[in-house]
Amino acid sequence: MKTSFALLLFVLSAIAKDSCLECHSALDGNLKTPAVRFKNDIHARAGFQCTDCHGGDRTVDDPEQAMSKAKGFAGHVARTAIPKLCARCHSDAALINKFKPQQRVDQLAQYSTSVHGKRLAAGDESVATCIDCHSVHDIRAVKDALSPVYPLRLPETCGRCHADASHMAGHKLDTTQLAQYRASVHWDALSKGDLSAPTCASCHGNHGATPPQVTSVAAVCGTCHALLEQLYSKSPHQSAFASMGVGSCTVCHSNHEIKKPSIKMLAGEGAVCSQCHDASSAGGSAAVEIAGLISGLSTALDKSDLTLTRARNSGMEVSEAQLRQMEARESLVKARVAVHAFQVAAVKKPVNEGFALAAETQRAGESALKERDTRRVGLGVALVSILLAMTGLWLAIRSLEAKPPESEKSIGR
Ligand code: HEC
Ligand code: HEC
Ligand code: HEC
Ligand code: HEC
Ligand code: HEC
Ligand code: HEC
Ligand code: HEC
Ligand code: HEC
Ligand code: HEC
Repeated sequence: MKTSFALLLFVLSAIAKDSCLECHSALDGNLKTPAVRFKNDIHARAGFQCTDCHGGDRTVDDPEQAMSKAKGFAGHVARTAIPKLCARCHSDAALINKFKPQQRVDQLAQYSTSVHGKRLAAGDESVATCIDCHSVHDIRAVKDALSPVYPLRLPETCGRCHADASHMAGHKLDTTQLAQYRASVHWDALSKGDLSAPTCASCHGNHGATPPQVTSVAAVCGTCHALLEQLYSKSPHQSAFASMGVGSCTVCHSNHEIKKPSIKMLAGEGAVCSQCHDASSAGGSAAVEIAGLISGLSTALDKSDLTLTRARNSGMEVSEAQLRQMEARESLVKARVAVHAFQVAAVKKPVNEGFALAAETQRAGESALKERDTRRVGLGVALVSILLAMTGLWLAIRSLEAKPPESEKSIGR
């Protein structure tokens, strides 16, 4: 009885024993770090141990035995061996399913088609492997805000190599992507908490060369900006740009440093259209006309905005007109979108609708202000007559007080 209990205890302690963790926790530097970090790793939390990746025998204290080749210990993991090491489990649908049903198991397959994967296979160790994006020994769930692949942290993760000139020295790539992206409308939206705005991997794919919906990274804009894509694909630029081999949206908006668009892109110094169309050409004159339409509507809307604001601030009821004004603003948005048909008529339609609405709200504001003036005149007249009546009353009282009453005269005597 006693001996079988001792045996049970021995077996239990052997199962629970983790000599790798114990010994490495007591070492220094690079040998200690894995043991310290591992407690936050999603694999530790799922019950995996050092031996699941490194092999060896964690039930014995003797390092010679614990880390012996005979027990499957592999020692140093070469960078070129990392994707296969991770994929041993991550490509195993049956295993992953037990922990996280519906989790994808195609990371290695996708990675192998990317520039990173192809170059690693050719022996280039400077490209990203699984651990450069996910870290190692403190790998977290991808939805964890502390994970290096969390959308807000990802640009920095890619930038660790792509913005480092010395790391990229042997490659024919510039190192401006991170800085340019950080100056874009997309980072602006993302950093303010709009997680629907793209980060590096939204356009370049998590593991593959491109996201699954598109055949090239350049076509990715349309997956989010669908309406603009539709207009563009029917425009004269679609086939013209395709035969020039210049890309599509990025010709005018760039890829990384996308700025807030404005009519400055259409006309004036530095306009994108003037790169290809001179002022006298059909495209050039269309650009100027479209700019005129949009800025005309914008000015009309600013004017009616001002009138309505003045009316409301002086206490007039203009809520109906303010709703119409919002509709008119919507026409301006539609016009900016319609630019992408690159036809004057397509822009004219929403602009004319906007002009009609702006004229209506301008009239409403003006008549509210006129009514305010009429009311003010009425109020003035009323005030003046009250004042006159009060003055009359005061004068009457004064004249009564000035005359001593008859009775007083007689008593005085
Ligand atoms: C009693 C202490 C001790 C135990 C137990 C131990 N290690 Fe080590 N380990 C070391 C020392 C010391 C080194 C560095 C010297 C060397 O490379 O042999 C090392 C090196 C390593 C390395 C780096 C190898 C390389 O070539 O860079 C890995 C990986 C490793 N250990 C994993 C493990 C795993 C997994 C276990 C459990 C199965 C384990 N260790 C058990 C002490 C230990
Ligand atoms: C999910 C797989 C995985 C697990 C689990 C894991 N490691 Fe590692 N480990 C790796 C990989 C991959 C590398 C290679 C890292 C590199 O190339 O920078 C590595 C490297 C190491 C090194 C060498 C560090 C260096 O900088 O030279 C040591 C030591 C080590 N691991 C110890 C451990 C210990 C101890 C545990 C358990 C507490 C553990 N590992 C758990 C994947 C793993
Ligand atoms: C260039 C960076 C990068 C590399 C290299 C990389 N990953 Fe990922 N990984 C990501 C990003 C980004 C996500 C998605 C994060 C999200 O959904 O927000 C991701 C997601 C994952 C997920 C969660 C499930 C999924 O597919 O969405 C797993 C598991 C994963 N990666 C494993 C791996 C493995 C294994 C490798 C190596 C074969 C690898 N990753 C290589 C960036 C990378
Ligand atoms: C021994 C099997 C095994 C190995 C080897 C392994 N993983 Fe995992 N990994 C898993 C399992 C199982 C999960 C799911 C755990 C959970 O969700 O509780 C997981 C989860 C993850 C996640 C989180 C995915 C999510 O849902 O957010 C990432 C990222 C990841 N692993 C990356 C790696 C990388 C990188 C390597 C190689 C260094 C690696 N794994 C090696 C089994 C493994
Ligand atoms: C460990 C360093 C490292 C990390 C991290 C890294 N990359 Fe790379 N990447 C490289 C290197 C090196 C190349 C190869 C350049 C070449 O073709 O010579 C490359 C190539 C690329 C290319 C192909 C460029 C081309 O046209 O040839 C793209 C796109 C890319 N990386 C995007 C990313 C994104 C997005 C991330 C983050 C999710 C990322 N990289 C993370 C090092 C890295
Ligand atoms: C809105 C989409 C989008 C985002 C976000 C994005 N890229 Fe790109 N990136 C592109 C397009 C489009 C290209 C042109 C490549 C092509 O036509 O295949 C490109 C090209 C590249 C290249 C090739 C070299 C070059 O500069 O042309 C690298 C490297 C790269 N991107 C890295 C990154 C990194 C790192 C991030 C995040 C900091 C990022 N990209 C964010 C769309 C994007
Ligand atoms: C993952 C979805 C997604 C992708 C892919 C994407 N965008 Fe965006 N884009 C957004 C979001 C979200 C915003 C910010 C909200 C807004 O203003 O619409 C935005 C904003 C913009 C703006 C500014 C709009 C404004 O009125 O200020 C432009 C221009 C733009 N994107 C162009 C592009 C181009 C060009 C590409 C391809 C290279 C692209 N986007 C790819 C989601 C995306
Ligand atoms: C030939 C140049 C050109 C091309 C190609 C182009 N755009 Fe634009 N885009 C413009 C101009 C000019 C504006 C600014 C209109 C304004 O603000 O007056 C604009 C505005 C925008 C806006 C802001 C609209 C708003 O609501 O204010 C977005 C978003 C946008 N473009 C996305 C795209 C996408 C996505 C593509 C590809 C399908 C694309 N653009 C192709 C020139 C172009
Ligand atoms: C990269 C060069 C390029 C840029 C930038 C560009 N276009 Fe074009 N555009 C063309 C080409 C090529 C055609 C095809 C017709 C042709 O051969 O002139 C075209 C056709 C047109 C047409 C049809 C009329 C015609 O000439 O057949 C209009 C209108 C037009 N563009 C307007 C614009 C506007 C507005 C902008 C700026 C927002 C712009 N384009 C920017 C190259 C460009």
